[in-house]
Amino acid sequence: MKKGLLTLVFGSALFLAACGGDDSATNGETAEVDGEKVVKQSCATCHGGQLQGGSAPALDKLGAKYSEEEILDIILNGKDRMPPGIVKGEKAEAAAEYLATLK
Ligand code: HEC
Repeated sequence: MKKGLLTLVFGSALFLAACGGDDSATNGETAEVDGEKVVKQSCATCHGGQLQGGSAPALDKLGAKYSEEEILDIILNGKDRMPPGIVKGEKAEAAAEYLATLK
């Protein structure tokens, strides 16, 4: 009985340790660019910390207005007072992909 309990405790400790390991793997560095992070870092100054708008229009429902391709085009080429090329390449693609999901 006592041995069974120990095994149980030990087993769940291992299980928890395994979960913790998985978490740190997703939080750690990965090859994928995190679009949400890019947007928070590069776009919030003008578009607001919650993308609610500021000196520039809100982006929080952008996916309802534009497709991913159109958003990417605006990021790369600018639009009126929106400066072009704030982020490029993979970062621009990740940002467009993330913003297109906001509806
Ligand atoms: C220097 C300030 C500034 C930064 C930084 C900035 N923007 Fe903008 N953005 C603007 C302004 C100003 C407009 C409004 C353009 C206009 O006159 O129509 C705009 C417009 C937009 C639009 C069109 C919105 C609409 O409803 O038509 C999109 C999409 C956009 N920005 C995406 C981004 C993304 C993504 C980033 C970060 C990579 C970013 N912006 C960073 C200033 C900025």
